[in-house]
Amino acid sequence: MVSVGIDALALATTHVQVPLSALADALDVPVGKYHKGLGQERMSIPALDEDAITMGAEAATKLLAHTGTDGIRTLLYASESGVDQSKAGGVFVHGILGLPRHIRTVELKEACYGGTAALQTALAFVARNPEEKALVIASDIARYTTDESGEPTQGAGAVAMLVSANPRLVEIEPVSGVYTLDINDFWRPNDSSTPYVHGHVSMDAYMDAFTGAWDDYRAYGGRDIGEFARFVHHQPFGKMARKAHARLMEYTGVHLQATNDTVNTDDSVIEAGLIYGRHIGNSYTAALYIGLASLLGNDSEDLTHKKIGMFSYGSGAVSEFFCAVPQPGYREVLAQTGADARSVMDMLDARTEVDFRTYRVMHAALRTDSEDFETPSQTTGPYRWAGVQGKIRRYSATS
Ligand code: CAA
Repeated sequence: MVSVGIDALALATTHVQVPLSALADALDVPVGKYHKGLGQERMSIPALDEDAITMGAEAATKLLAHTGTDGIRTLLYASESGVDQSKAGGVFVHGILGLPRHIRTVELKEACYGGTAALQTALAFVARNPEEKALVIASDIARYTTDESGEPTQGAGAVAMLVSANPRLVEIEPVSGVYTLDINDFWRPNDSSTPYVHGHVSMDAYMDAFTGAWDDYRAYGGRDIGEFARFVHHQPFGKMARKAHARLMEYTGVHLQATNDTVNTDDSVIEAGLIYGRHIGNSYTAALYIGLASLLGNDSEDLTHKKIGMFSYGSGAVSEFFCAVPQPGYREVLAQTGADARSVMDMLDARTEVDFRTYRVMHAALRTDSEDFETPSQTTGPYRWAGVQGKIRRYSATS
């Protein structure tokens, strides 16, 4: 069987960020709750002229500047920050980037699991015709109601991935464990710009969906737990991934440690994957793949041909467990699209920091109607959401 997987990957986030220390001060919450209790330091928030489309377009631009568009026949756009009930977000990105016309484009949605749904669909297309490539874009703004428990877990991020045969970054193995259970842990009805969340119910739902997907993975011939060198678990906030990992170790009865671990902790096999998310916040569909980039870019061990367990969770709820295998030279491949550790940290440092008051004003200013309006010029990114004209969302390049 032909090897298929992620040939190259690029990341983007918004160009504004809020330190959680500012949120803690303003809300009179001990900062330790956010830094240690949730495992988060900062959250990316959108400028008033940024949205999931501008982020997705920026990630795709970085990717395609290196890979080109040859062979791409499919564009799968995953998001739960949809900007239109009918038109796929990927079609907006296609237009902004001026991509070739002979591409099928569609949007996929199932909360944070959507990115994995897009990836697995892309892998199936490529396995059917290994000459073809697929562009997967997962992009989200995690925006919660202010003064509710989800507020410090907001964030924003996008990932663009080129899926191909004989991939240069990671191979994705064919065995998957899958799981669906209809549960109301987190959802966003059509008339709301923020989700309704039963926070602790959602944490339990995540854990149950994890063991459910793991059992299915094993039942379908998946690897033994002891074969994995590292794990990346969906990370709405870092502590959630730590809790999930502890559950997996307890459930399987096997406690794994990285060979480069000096402090003997179970978390040594997930630690490097949590670095970017701590500074970006939740990015829903993109979060798992931002975690993968963080692991590949920051783990001090050479992970070539090692087995990485990947757990994807989307509220509602759908989950999947599968295995990614880094290929020789994976670090160079990351660097080609600006997804190496240094470039990503530079990208994060370049964001404009705003204080609590400014953040709250920006949060309140989001427009979701379709009357004519123009957004103020704020973003320092390459694309901006210019507003709405004639009921149509308008985008433009900033230079
Ligand atoms: N110093 C250090 N730690 C502290 C502390 C302090 N001063 N004060 C509290 N803590 C710790 C608590 O002990 C707790 O840690 P443990 O869970 O390990 O005990 C942690 O900080 C959080 O405290 P609470 O549980 O009291 O926090 P909360 O109830 O206010 O909010 C939350 C937590 C419910 C998850 C909330 O952030 C939320 O609603 N988030 C959005 C929903 C979410 O992300 N769910 C995750 C699963 S669903 C999913 O994964 C999909 C998705 O992307 C949304």
